[in-house]
Amino acid sequence: MEPKDWPGHIWLEGRTSVHLRSHQTRPSHMPRGPAAKTGEGFLNPAMAPARTRSVMLLADAIENNWLVPEGKTIRALDALCATGVRPRRWRKEIPFQDRLRITANDLDSEALQWAKESHRVHPVGDKLEWTPEPSRFAREQEGVVEDGIHWIEGDAIRLMVQAPYQWIDLDPFGSPVNFLDSAIQSISRVGVLEVTATDTAALCGSAKTSALRRYGSVGITDYYMHDDATRILLGTIARIAAMHDKSVHPILSLFDGHHVRVTVLLKRSKEEATDWQDNIGYRIRSEPYHFAKQPERDYSGPMWTGPLCDSEIAGRMTVERAIELCAGRPEDLPEEWNDIDIEHSQREIERSVRYISQSAELLSGEHLLVAVDSLGVAAGVGQIPSMKKMKSGLEDAGYRMARCHMPEAMFATDADWDTVLKIAKSAE
Ligand SMILES: C[S@@+](CC[C@H](N)C(=O)[O-])C[C@H]1O[C@@H](n2cnc3c(N)ncnc32)[C@H](O)[C@@H]1O
Repeated sequence: MEPKDWPGHIWLEGRTSVHLRSHQTRPSHMPRGPAAKTGEGFLNPAMAPARTRSVMLLADAIENNWLVPEGKTIRALDALCATGVRPRRWRKEIPFQDRLRITANDLDSEALQWAKESHRVHPVGDKLEWTPEPSRFAREQEGVVEDGIHWIEGDAIRLMVQAPYQWIDLDPFGSPVNFLDSAIQSISRVGVLEVTATDTAALCGSAKTSALRRYGSVGITDYYMHDDATRILLGTIARIAAMHDKSVHPILSLFDGHHVRVTVLLKRSKEEATDWQDNIGYRIRSEPYHFAKQPERDYSGPMWTGPLCDSEIAGRMTVERAIELCAGRPEDLPEEWNDIDIEHSQREIERSVRYISQSAELLSGEHLLVAVDSLGVAAGVGQIPSMKKMKSGLEDAGYRMARCHMPEAMFATDADWDTVLKIAKSAE
């Protein structure tokens, strides 16, 4: 039976044909914002860049063998897949399908019907077949495998308790805290957890009571609140992981528009997990801010104060790679698409990874994050210096500087604050 309102209208996300509901307007080339307008459980085009990065990271793990040894397969679960766009993109756009076992789960039967019907109407067509392994508690695994995706309709928490995965994606409405414990337990000895959080008011510190309740954290709404949000989520994951003898190694951590998205490698290691607090602290508001082990005066946290990404993996997330993997090819394009649609879609793929590879090295180590808008007042100059001038000034002085993938103009540098101010003054 066809789902209600089927087929809606067809859109291309990455290289994958998706069905939008009839009332959903055609996405612009840079859709942003929460899914409220599209209806719960339905495809939010604003999340396309996060899904593109997910395709790239999973492809990178297989291609560069940093998760499982060469030749072995990765069991990947999209635990809250809604209309199945992410698992369908993993299936269609990742080149090494024989090394992937994709499971897609959701509680919402209507969303899942859209997912399966979309997959049936737009098959990958490589005749990939596999049989799911039985779960810890049942002789047979539930759900069905269709054209290489194992679809399950059920509670994500129950599913994660029943079966181990090496890659889990959590993309809930609002806060992911309800799902973290079971996902971390489900992850094998070494595995990747990808987490989206849209409760940014709590993570950024404006919803103070929910911040304290969910994350045990305090925030300050200033230039650095988006970085804080990412670090508070990472700190929460590290704390729960440590309870299960697992250590956390960030691969990519971003604040993108209306959500936080982090991808971490989890490793079972009692020794490393015991030291989890080495990377936990507070951001102390001073000029410039600094991290400290204990809160003092104006502060936000507790939060993760360690590296935000893996320099090698994030360093490979280039625009060229994004286009190569995820840009629509002639055979993928919907019939009614014109040149403008094609150009917009290409630009969105580029935007998904903008500044990531260039800033990977700095963000994987100790760095100073600088909000360009704060420099006018801090340096006592009438005009805010341009990013370009700051970059050439800092590099000429022998420092590294890279713009970051942030909602505002921000850069990371290994220069000290006095040097940054000196260059801001001379850039006037
Ligand atoms: C934000 S949507 C997911 C969007 C999706 N990942 C995408 O990229 O389009 C959250 C989904 O979580 C599902 N959900 C909520 N609680 C769940 C649970 N306990 N188990 C399984 N699915 C659940 C909802 O039905 C909804 O489809």
